[in-house]
Amino acid sequence: MLRPGRLGARPPLPVLLLPLLLAARGAAAQETELSVTAELVPTSSWNISSELDKDSFLTLDEPMNNITTSLGQTAELHCRVSGNPPPTIRWFKNDAPVVQEPRRISFRATNYGSRLRIRNLDTTDTGYFQCVATNGKKVVSTTGVLFVKFGPPPTASPGSSTQRQKF
Ligand SMILES: *[C@@H]1O[C@H](CO)[C@@H](O)[C@H](O)[C@H]1NC(C)=O
Ligand SMILES: *[C@@H]1O[C@H](CO)[C@@H](O)[C@H](O)[C@H]1NC(C)=O
Repeated sequence: MLRPGRLGARPPLPVLLLPLLLAARGAAAQETELSVTAELVPTSSWNISSELDKDSFLTLDEPMNNITTSLGQTAELHCRVSGNPPPTIRWFKNDAPVVQEPRRISFRATNYGSRLRIRNLDTTDTGYFQCVATNGKKVVSTTGVLFVKFGPPPTASPGSSTQRQKF
Protein backbone atom coordinates (compact mmCIF):
# COMPACT_ATOMS: atom_id res chain seq x y z
CA MET A 1 0.00 0.00 0.00
CA LEU A 2 2.97 2.28 0.44
CA ARG A 3 4.03 1.85 -3.15
CA PRO A 4 6.13 -1.28 -2.39
CA GLY A 5 7.81 -1.16 -5.77
CA ARG A 6 9.66 1.95 -4.74
CA LEU A 7 10.55 0.86 -1.22
CA GLY A 8 13.95 -0.64 -0.45
CA ALA A 9 14.69 -3.17 2.23
CA ARG A 10 14.52 -0.65 5.01
CA PRO A 11 11.62 1.69 5.37
CA PRO A 12 12.54 5.16 4.18
CA LEU A 13 12.83 7.86 6.75
CA PRO A 14 9.63 9.70 5.78
CA VAL A 15 7.55 6.64 6.56
CA LEU A 16 8.95 6.48 10.07
CA LEU A 17 8.57 10.18 10.63
CA LEU A 18 5.09 10.49 9.26
CA PRO A 19 3.19 9.53 12.43
CA LEU A 20 5.38 11.86 14.45
CA LEU A 21 4.83 14.71 12.03
CA LEU A 22 1.10 14.16 12.00
CA ALA A 23 0.98 14.06 15.77
CA ALA A 24 3.02 17.26 15.97
CA ARG A 25 0.82 19.01 13.45
CA GLY A 26 -2.29 17.91 15.26
CA ALA A 27 -0.98 19.33 18.49
CA ALA A 28 0.06 22.55 16.83
CA ALA A 29 -3.31 22.98 15.17
CA GLN A 30 -5.05 22.43 18.46
CA GLU A 31 -2.82 24.90 20.17
CA THR A 32 -3.45 27.55 17.51
CA GLU A 33 -7.15 27.01 17.75
CA LEU A 34 -7.08 27.39 21.50
CA SER A 35 -5.01 30.54 21.49
CA VAL A 36 -7.17 32.13 18.78
CA THR A 37 -10.28 31.39 20.76
CA ALA A 38 -8.67 32.81 23.84
CA GLU A 39 -7.71 36.01 22.05
CA LEU A 40 -11.16 36.57 20.67
CA VAL A 41 -12.83 36.47 24.03
CA PRO A 42 -11.56 39.62 25.75
CA THR A 43 -12.79 42.64 23.85
CA SER A 44 -9.88 44.63 25.20
CA SER A 45 -7.69 42.99 22.57
CA TRP A 46 -9.74 44.73 19.86
CA ASN A 47 -8.52 48.00 21.24
CA ILE A 48 -4.89 47.04 20.77
CA SER A 49 -5.30 47.02 17.02
CA SER A 50 -7.48 50.10 16.96
CA GLU A 51 -4.75 51.89 18.93
CA LEU A 52 -2.30 51.02 16.18
CA ASP A 53 -4.76 52.13 13.53
CA LYS A 54 -5.87 55.30 15.18
CA ASP A 55 -4.14 57.52 12.61
CA SER A 56 -5.49 55.58 9.68
CA PHE A 57 -8.65 56.81 8.00
CA LEU A 58 -10.46 56.75 4.71
CA THR A 59 -13.12 59.28 3.80
CA LEU A 60 -15.32 59.84 0.82
CA ASP A 61 -15.16 63.62 0.56
CA GLU A 62 -17.85 64.04 -2.07
CA PRO A 63 -20.13 61.84 -4.12
CA MET A 64 -19.08 61.46 -7.73
CA ASN A 65 -20.47 63.92 -10.25
CA ASN A 66 -23.03 62.91 -12.85
CA ILE A 67 -22.60 64.06 -16.41
CA THR A 68 -25.04 64.40 -19.25
CA THR A 69 -23.32 65.42 -22.45
CA SER A 70 -23.17 64.71 -26.16
CA LEU A 71 -21.28 62.75 -28.74
CA GLY A 72 -17.71 63.91 -29.30
CA GLN A 73 -17.46 65.85 -26.05
CA THR A 74 -15.03 65.26 -23.19
CA ALA A 75 -16.20 64.12 -19.77
CA GLU A 76 -14.36 64.19 -16.47
CA LEU A 77 -15.48 62.19 -13.48
CA HIS A 78 -13.99 62.98 -10.11
CA CYS A 79 -13.38 60.62 -7.24
CA ARG A 80 -12.85 62.72 -4.12
CA VAL A 81 -11.45 60.65 -1.30
CA SER A 82 -8.79 61.13 1.32
CA GLY A 83 -7.10 58.68 3.59
CA ASN A 84 -4.11 57.51 5.50
CA PRO A 85 -2.35 55.53 4.23
CA PRO A 86 -3.15 57.15 0.88
CA PRO A 87 -5.87 55.06 -0.75
CA THR A 88 -5.53 52.96 -3.84
CA ILE A 89 -8.27 53.93 -6.28
CA ARG A 90 -9.77 51.73 -8.96
CA TRP A 91 -12.35 52.67 -11.60
CA PHE A 92 -15.20 50.53 -12.85
CA LYS A 93 -17.73 51.01 -15.61
CA ASN A 94 -20.90 48.98 -15.14
CA ASP A 95 -18.95 46.85 -12.64
CA ALA A 96 -16.09 46.00 -15.02
CA PRO A 97 -12.66 47.60 -14.62
CA VAL A 98 -12.26 50.68 -16.82
CA VAL A 99 -9.86 49.94 -19.66
CA GLN A 100 -7.75 52.92 -20.63
CA GLU A 101 -7.49 53.80 -24.30
CA PRO A 102 -4.59 55.88 -25.60
CA ARG A 103 -5.61 59.51 -26.12
CA ARG A 104 -9.24 58.75 -25.24
CA ILE A 105 -9.83 57.10 -21.87
CA SER A 106 -7.46 57.74 -18.99
CA PHE A 107 -7.49 58.05 -15.25
CA ARG A 108 -4.87 59.37 -12.91
CA ALA A 109 -4.26 60.17 -9.28
CA THR A 110 -4.91 63.78 -8.28
CA ASN A 111 -4.46 65.72 -5.07
CA TYR A 112 -8.14 65.08 -4.27
CA GLY A 113 -8.21 61.41 -5.27
CA SER A 114 -8.53 60.35 -8.87
CA ARG A 115 -9.88 61.70 -12.13
CA LEU A 116 -11.26 59.75 -15.05
CA ARG A 117 -11.30 61.54 -18.39
CA ILE A 118 -12.98 60.33 -21.57
CA ARG A 119 -12.49 62.30 -24.76
CA ASN A 120 -14.39 62.08 -28.02
CA LEU A 121 -17.36 60.55 -26.25
CA ASP A 122 -19.45 57.90 -27.91
CA THR A 123 -22.93 56.88 -26.85
CA THR A 124 -21.45 53.54 -25.80
CA ASP A 125 -19.51 55.39 -23.11
CA THR A 126 -22.80 55.87 -21.31
CA GLY A 127 -22.85 53.96 -18.05
CA TYR A 128 -22.41 53.82 -14.34
CA PHE A 129 -18.89 54.78 -13.32
CA GLN A 130 -17.70 53.78 -9.91
CA CYS A 131 -14.50 54.49 -8.08
CA VAL A 132 -13.44 52.19 -5.29
CA ALA A 133 -10.85 53.42 -2.84
CA THR A 134 -9.13 51.33 -0.22
CA ASN A 135 -6.33 51.95 2.24
CA GLY A 136 -6.04 48.29 3.15
CA LYS A 137 -8.29 48.60 6.17
CA LYS A 138 -11.40 50.19 4.80
CA VAL A 139 -13.12 50.57 1.44
CA VAL A 140 -15.25 53.46 0.20
CA SER A 141 -16.86 53.89 -3.17
CA THR A 142 -19.01 56.30 -5.10
CA THR A 143 -20.82 56.04 -8.41
CA GLY A 144 -21.64 58.61 -11.05
CA VAL A 145 -23.72 58.38 -14.18
CA LEU A 146 -22.32 59.40 -17.54
CA PHE A 147 -24.98 59.84 -20.18
CA VAL A 148 -23.85 60.53 -23.72
CA LYS A 149 -26.63 61.73 -25.98
CA PHE A 150 -26.74 61.74 -29.74
CA GLY A 151 -26.40 65.04 -31.48
CA PRO A 152 -24.37 68.19 -30.96
CA PRO A 153 -24.52 69.61 -27.44
CA PRO A 154 -25.56 73.18 -26.73
CA THR A 155 -26.92 74.23 -30.08
CA ALA A 156 -29.40 71.39 -30.41
CA SER A 157 -32.88 72.80 -30.84
CA PRO A 158 -35.40 71.52 -28.35
CA GLY A 159 -37.62 70.15 -31.06
CA SER A 160 -34.94 68.12 -32.81
CA SER A 161 -35.65 64.45 -32.99
CA THR A 162 -34.06 63.05 -29.87
CA GLN A 163 -33.01 59.50 -29.41
CA ARG A 164 -33.96 58.61 -25.94
CA GLN A 165 -31.86 56.13 -24.10
CA LYS A 166 -32.86 54.47 -20.95
CA PHE A 167 -30.71 53.02 -18.29
C1 LIG B 1 -12.02 50.35 23.45
O1 LIG B 1 -11.73 51.25 24.47
C2 LIG B 1 -12.69 52.24 24.66
C3 LIG B 1 -12.20 53.20 25.75
O2 LIG B 1 -10.82 53.34 25.70
C4 LIG B 1 -14.01 51.60 25.05
O3 LIG B 1 -14.99 52.59 25.19
C5 LIG B 1 -14.43 50.64 23.98
O4 LIG B 1 -15.59 49.97 24.36
C6 LIG B 1 -13.34 49.64 23.73
N1 LIG B 1 -13.72 48.81 22.60
C7 LIG B 1 -13.63 47.51 22.62
C8 LIG B 1 -14.06 46.81 21.40
O5 LIG B 1 -13.25 46.93 23.59
C1 LIG C 1 -26.23 61.31 -9.57
O1 LIG C 1 -27.36 60.62 -9.98
C2 LIG C 1 -27.81 59.67 -9.03
C3 LIG C 1 -28.92 58.87 -9.66
O2 LIG C 1 -29.68 59.62 -10.51
C4 LIG C 1 -28.24 60.42 -7.79
O3 LIG C 1 -28.70 59.52 -6.83
C5 LIG C 1 -27.06 61.18 -7.25
O4 LIG C 1 -27.42 61.94 -6.15
C6 LIG C 1 -26.45 62.08 -8.30
N1 LIG C 1 -25.20 62.63 -7.81
C7 LIG C 1 -24.98 63.92 -7.75
C8 LIG C 1 -23.64 64.33 -7.25
O5 LIG C 1 -25.80 64.75 -8.10
